[in-house]
Amino acid sequence: MFTTLFRLFQGQKAFDSMPGPPPFPLLGNVLDFIGKTDRPWEVFAEYGRKHGGMCVFWTFGEPAVVLNDAALIEELLVTRREHFYKDSPCPELVPVLTMSSPNINNGEAWTKLHDIAPLVQPYAREWMERQRTPVLEHVRARARELAAVAVDKPFMVLPETEKLMFDCFSLGAIGRVLPQSAYDDFMRVATYGSDRMKASGTPSAELPPDGRDARERWIDEFSFAIKNDRAKPRANAWDLLATVLRHGTTLDDRDLAAELGNIFYGGDFSGPSTLVSALWLLTQHPAEAAKLRAALGALDGSVASLMACTALDQVLREAMRLLPAVTLWGRRVLPDAPTTLGGRELPAHTKIYLTSWRLHRDATVYPDPDAFRPERWTPELVAKSPYAGSGYFFPLGMGPRTCLGGHYVVFLLKLMLSELAGPFEVTCGKDQPYDAGQTFFFGTRMPAGLKATVRSTP
Ligand code: HEM
Repeated sequence: MFTTLFRLFQGQKAFDSMPGPPPFPLLGNVLDFIGKTDRPWEVFAEYGRKHGGMCVFWTFGEPAVVLNDAALIEELLVTRREHFYKDSPCPELVPVLTMSSPNINNGEAWTKLHDIAPLVQPYAREWMERQRTPVLEHVRARARELAAVAVDKPFMVLPETEKLMFDCFSLGAIGRVLPQSAYDDFMRVATYGSDRMKASGTPSAELPPDGRDARERWIDEFSFAIKNDRAKPRANAWDLLATVLRHGTTLDDRDLAAELGNIFYGGDFSGPSTLVSALWLLTQHPAEAAKLRAALGALDGSVASLMACTALDQVLREAMRLLPAVTLWGRRVLPDAPTTLGGRELPAHTKIYLTSWRLHRDATVYPDPDAFRPERWTPELVAKSPYAGSGYFFPLGMGPRTCLGGHYVVFLLKLMLSELAGPFEVTCGKDQPYDAGQTFFFGTRMPAGLKATVRSTP
């Protein structure tokens, strides 16, 4: 009764019959998020448990729909996607990524930018596989340094992993490790971007002066590299820049520079989050870690054997299932066209959130769903659950807008894990709970606060 009055008062009759948490007058459901602003997906998963696969909650006077249902999410992202658009984090990230990124575009602009993105071109597979040697050498060298640190001096594993992955992206993008000053610029701009994603209200068009300067210096790193390569092409180089220039691109040089830099924004938070989650899970399950080490030890050193390693694939999938780095995002109904979802009418411009947090733990698909059991990934389950996403496993999104760097990041994570859970052993958060200091940064669940040590395995 009270809920109905609230909805009528808000003039949103469309939501009358939709289940959801009872809203307070004026406030709506904002109190549910107190103490949870850094983990809103937990609130949304709880809404799913109590109110089903599609429910409505209210932020003051604004309704938003939450999806915890595989079929409805598929409708939203795949089968009826043209009735919805990606509204966020678009204005938030325009001055960070610049307009060259498909991630923040819709409609024809998205199609055009997606189709010319270097990572979807036919040459991308060979480029990626050529990263094996430089990445492994870099990871091995850093792991050796960390193994030399006394075991009673554990280091904070997330920042270490972010820097390590940043270096791997640098090798992949331009064939050399970028200087610390570039990392500092990248992190400064990313922090502005993250703050903008978390703030409410309309974001400003531009970053504050120090952020804008850092972004320009960041893009300049890549622009200079492009200029040098154009003047003196590196015939045998296999980094992305050399590869793109060899094949040609319709991106102009400024946009190519921005897109090389955007690989880092795409993956340098979600990638390390995934790697640290996997290392933490392996630390808590030594028998699984031993199984993985034995399987890695039996590989012949080729890219093909690494990618075909079942134990490695199972560990990565299970980590991405249980602790997905990106577990909450959304769409809106088009501004001028009401539509339906799951047969229910939704007014134009309705905000819709989706989360994988609950579906990735659905007991009908994953028996004993909270347990870390890599072997649950049988060939049948793998066939139904590609990394590119399906109903109960979509750590990288789903449908045409699934993660554009998905192949690359899965490849990199496998390479890095093959070293850090093979010839080296990372003990990560041994006596710490997973959420020892978890934060929400750049749209990503970040397992901050965990400490680690490294040793070479016999
Ligand atoms: C483990 C690491 C990663 C995770 C968990 C992740 C997750 C995601 C998710 C869930 C989406 C879908 C968003 C949506 O539907 O609105 C997405 C899209 C995207 N990702 Fe990733 N990502 C990762 C790494 C990367 C990397 C390395 C890149 C580098 C290029 C990247 C670039 C993108 C782009 C450009 C999009 C937008 C695609 C589009 O709109 O067409 N991501 N990612």
